[in-house]
Amino acid sequence: MKSFAVYIESFGCQMNKLDTALVASALQDAGFRLAVGVKEADVVLINTCSVRQHAEDRVLSHLGHLKHLKEHRPDLVVGVIGCMAQRLGEKLLEHGAVNIVCGPAQIPQIADLICQALAQNAKQVAVTEKIRQPVQPGDGSLDSFELEHSSRDGQIPGQAFVRVMRGCNYFCTYCVVPYVRGPEACRPPEAVLEQVKRLADEGIKQVTLLGQTVNSYKYRKGEQTYCLADLLDMAPRVAGIEWVRFVTSYPADEFYEEILQVMADSPKVCRYLHMPAQSGSDQILKAMNRHYTAAHYLELIEKARTVVPDIAVAGDFIVGFPGETEDDFQATVDLTRKVRYKNCFVFKYSPRPGTTADKHLADSIPDEVKQRRIVELLAVQEQISGELNQAFLGRQVMVLVEGPSKKAHVNPTGSDDHPQLVSRTSTDHIVVFNGPVSLAGRLTQVRITRTSPLTLFGESS
Ligand code: 5AD
Ligand code: SF4
Repeated sequence: MKSFAVYIESFGCQMNKLDTALVASALQDAGFRLAVGVKEADVVLINTCSVRQHAEDRVLSHLGHLKHLKEHRPDLVVGVIGCMAQRLGEKLLEHGAVNIVCGPAQIPQIADLICQALAQNAKQVAVTEKIRQPVQPGDGSLDSFELEHSSRDGQIPGQAFVRVMRGCNYFCTYCVVPYVRGPEACRPPEAVLEQVKRLADEGIKQVTLLGQTVNSYKYRKGEQTYCLADLLDMAPRVAGIEWVRFVTSYPADEFYEEILQVMADSPKVCRYLHMPAQSGSDQILKAMNRHYTAAHYLELIEKARTVVPDIAVAGDFIVGFPGETEDDFQATVDLTRKVRYKNCFVFKYSPRPGTTADKHLADSIPDEVKQRRIVELLAVQEQISGELNQAFLGRQVMVLVEGPSKKAHVNPTGSDDHPQLVSRTSTDHIVVFNGPVSLAGRLTQVRITRTSPLTLFGESS
């Protein structure tokens, strides 16, 4: 039989990257080949994100190109998977390019859906209407799919993601995630550990434990309740695992001290906390249905720095949420200055259909105001990142090497056998240095010789 080639394009967050890795592995196990581009592919899958309109627009524009391509290649099978598939369902099949729509909970069926589409050139859809219903006991299809297939990051050697929970129960008023990824569902600790062991056997050095609100991980077994701190304690004990990370954390008290304490106690738990504040204004936080005030958020950050003094904190902010006044925005700037983040991701509010904010609040802030606020907040953050990075000058740091740099940073001594490598510290700082490609996927020491707000530059030592 001809072996069909699949090209997978991935948009969105780390959850999506993980799903892409699992789907790629499942398709290879089913006899498909992975193509390096659309040109060589019989099947194109797009793993989509719905968190902002911009992400959906990029997918739609891509589908426009594919529709055009299909005029010359009518046999090309195009599948949309991920959050947009769940959000739009059958409506996507009306698009001239699309053959398959498959929601995040249905990815175990993807190989079958593709085979049917290839055989019949028909339209296939697999999404669930019941996304907010808890997974039925005994329905382990997603869990076994996760265990059976490798979640190695195809791009970065030595690293892999491990999902510890799916979905979200928070319902922040702007956010589409609870509607497309369903309610919180935590995997049993033994399943997580089994996966970590298999990855370590494949040579993985760093695992990143994933959850939309990973710090609310909770699993009851008999008398005992396991929390994220337990996973962070157990995962580094697996032979071969050097570093364990986790993202993303919700600013909440439950399990917080336990999590910080394992970080303080274990050199293998990375000193990095991605804990989005979203806004520094209590009024806006309330309208967002975030369950904390700016003062409480700051207390959480202070606690983190007391228990783990060298911790690096990253954050997310949304600017231009409905009704955000200049004072509200200044409160966000103020919080950013007080926290002194390592880095921040800043987004313009994007109304998402079906969310509470979209139903009840007009998108009242003009785009140019949102744009100005993004620029101002990022400028404040850049200064802070620059100052914090300067403290690295002359220091020796341990890094995990990702591989040769795709961007040509200026580092004059680079040569063919010592190209510029990109690596990260335990605190998630990017370090660029010249070294042999054989270091990719390995830990090594680097001495920092130059810094900029986004990057540390160093020499192998
Ligand atoms: N508009 C803009 N940003 C959003 N985010 C989530 N929903 C929206 C939205 N509707 C941001 C939040 C979240 C990050 C993943 O995306 O900051 O932390
Ligand atoms: Fe969305 Fe809020 Fe859940 Fe994060 S915690 S996924 S922002 S609803």
